[in-house]
Amino acid sequence: MQISFTGTALPSSGAAVFLVAKDKAFSGAAAEADAATSGALKKAADVSRFTGAKGQTLEVVAPAGLSVDRVLFIGLGDGDKMAETDSLTIGGTAVAKLLMAGSESATIFADADGVDAAVVAEGARLRSYRFDKYRTKETADKKPTLKAVAIATSDKNADDRYAVRDKVIDGVFLTRDLVSEPANVLYPESFAAAISKLSALGIDVEVLGEAEMTKLGMGSLLAVGQGSEKESKLAIMRWNGADKDDQPIAFVGKGVTFDTGGISLKPGEGMEQMKWDMGGAGTVTGLMKALAGRKAKVNAIGVVGLVENMPSGNAQRPGDVVTSMSGQTIEVLNTDAEGRLVLADALWYTQDRFKPKFMVDLATLTGAIIISLGNEHAGLFSDSDELAERIASAGTVTGDKVWRMPLHDNYNKMLDCAIADMKNIGGRPAGSITAAQFLKRFTNDVPWAHIDIAGMAWSDKDLAVCEKGGTGFGVRLLDRMVAEHYES
Ligand code: BES
Ligand code: MN
Ligand code: ZN
Repeated sequence: MQISFTGTALPSSGAAVFLVAKDKAFSGAAAEADAATSGALKKAADVSRFTGAKGQTLEVVAPAGLSVDRVLFIGLGDGDKMAETDSLTIGGTAVAKLLMAGSESATIFADADGVDAAVVAEGARLRSYRFDKYRTKETADKKPTLKAVAIATSDKNADDRYAVRDKVIDGVFLTRDLVSEPANVLYPESFAAAISKLSALGIDVEVLGEAEMTKLGMGSLLAVGQGSEKESKLAIMRWNGADKDDQPIAFVGKGVTFDTGGISLKPGEGMEQMKWDMGGAGTVTGLMKALAGRKAKVNAIGVVGLVENMPSGNAQRPGDVVTSMSGQTIEVLNTDAEGRLVLADALWYTQDRFKPKFMVDLATLTGAIIISLGNEHAGLFSDSDELAERIASAGTVTGDKVWRMPLHDNYNKMLDCAIADMKNIGGRPAGSITAAQFLKRFTNDVPWAHIDIAGMAWSDKDLAVCEKGGTGFGVRLLDRMVAEHYES
């Protein structure tokens, strides 16, 4: 989708999108357009009960007196408390309505109280994403028609402010691409190859294979991948946007490119969803692209553990005891609780090598977090109130919402084990919390936050700024957190 900014004159073609406050007369460009139709637009609104309530839309096709294809009205509501997410949703709503409608261009008139034109543009581009590379027989009438969105505004800085957001969207789209790819295409090695391409943006990329990880003692991560024909990988990304000796911040991702459950095999129904069990790694990768793309003034590390969890004659068995890089031993009671085994070594490695200010890990870690929070919030766990607060408030602003969950030594004790230092499951109660407690044992007390995105990495329904499929959750969230608190 091509995004541009323009003045506030009525367009001569394509779609015109007007924002209308609730129960208010048309103003500005909408009033001008209504006059050109001799009041037909106003009449259309009246006869269809369009009041301008928040999120309400009305499309008027081929209005006589105007040369545009169509007019789309979007309700602003009472307009008193317009948040950034409202502007985002306006852009998303316009594109959702117009993507397939027939017009090739749209002009969104974004000058309204509390509406940010740059954010409207962001919402429009975010909503335009489709993963259609494998739909080879899609007929022309099923393909989008909308190619270009112009944001009509008198805000002279909108263009420049959008340019930064555009780079972040590039990161979101990379995450969505990675999450959408099937597991026969995206496996540890091909995922690492995609990461290596980020070197073009100035990111230093290193990829460790099984031999190197064996030397490092990553027995926990390696055990997960040992049943797979695909070699496990650990990819390390470094963006150096600040002074050389500025302490870095670090992001760690679970990259299980397919999770069958291993010998503790998952039921067949819905198993195809486990192609996106690399969502945490996808977010870390997209975030690194966003930070480098907008040249963030920060030193940031991204570490992703890439493995495939398969049952086979060489797979780990329930009851196996593995030794992690930290030296701690783990009894693997359930091979389907594999994400934590991957993160255990990835987290330890990250703090050991980089001594970061903090670590944030992202993982599609537990089904239990979907039971707790549904598909509305990711679960946030942290031993740092400051870090948790910064992430949570970035979530409110960007719309990538997180909800803080508790940690407590009583949950930690649920992992105690008779034959090893811990077991990898804590039983059904508080399943997301015991998973987080497990991870905390591998942070070496570096300030840490864990975001369980199992309910957020993928959406089965269209969302405000995302077609159904991979969401790219977490990229805009953490990019914002970095921009607000960690750039020099
Ligand atoms: N990848 C799954 C968690 C998941 C479930 C992600 C649904 C997205 C949607 C994870 O590896 C897993 O299997 N977790 C188990 C843990 C259990 C065995 C303690 C779970 O949640 O059932
Ligand atoms: Mn699993
Ligand atoms: Zn998993």
